[in-house]
Amino acid sequence: MSSDEIGFSRLTYSEVILSIRLKEMVNSAPMGAILNDRGEISLKIYEKQRTYKMILEGARDCVLNITDDPILFYNAIFEKEKIRYKPAKYVSSPRIRGCNAYIECLIADATTRKGYIDTTLKPLLIEAAADTVRAYSRPGPAIIEALICYSKIPHYKDVDKEKAEKLKKMIDTFREIVYHSTKDRILREIATKILEKAKKI
Ligand SMILES: Cc1cc2nc3c(=O)[nH]c(=O)nc-3n(C[C@H](O)[C@H](O)[C@H](O)COP(=O)(O)O)c2cc1C
Repeated sequence: MSSDEIGFSRLTYSEVILSIRLKEMVNSAPMGAILNDRGEISLKIYEKQRTYKMILEGARDCVLNITDDPILFYNAIFEKEKIRYKPAKYVSSPRIRGCNAYIECLIADATTRKGYIDTTLKPLLIEAAADTVRAYSRPGPAIIEALICYSKIPHYKDVDKEKAEKLKKMIDTFREIVYHSTKDRILREIATKILEKAKKI
């Protein structure tokens, strides 16, 4: 199985939960992952985070845990003690229990930039529970939410103008999310069109 089979692409970020070990310390945090031109996985990890420090201090490998469970994403930021681990097959970093797929990776390169590190990962093993598993990505849900807002505007523009304006602002925000999370021209065009159409109502 390859990373593109679970939705990884060169255009759109896949949102994963990265688990990592440095000696006795284990940590998990959500991260956006994208393929680079060589087909390796690329992450941008901002400073002041535990993951950042662990990589700079010598962590050698990690696991990208694939899930669309919002509670796991929440726990990976706010309630890390609730995360349950199980051993990985090829790397020292553990897998998070209850995910749909796992990508066990070597940290092949970590280049320090201003305020973040560019990290390149080499996948050693990709294991998915089913062929249909896809990593979570933001542009699809953002476009659907924008369409929901759009379809509510005709109703609110007569009964509650303030609410109608708020819906347009939300569509603008969803468009920003699309632009932030993908370079895909068609998805970006769709997001812009929804906003333009909403402004004309
Ligand atoms: C869906 C999602 C994607 C994220 N992507 C990144 C990312 O690509 N790079 C990053 O530095 N932080 C990212 N974050 C923020 C970190 O996960 C967050 O700051 C976390 O608390 C860091 O945990 P740590 O201090 O234990 O490393 C993301 C958060 C979410 C919810």
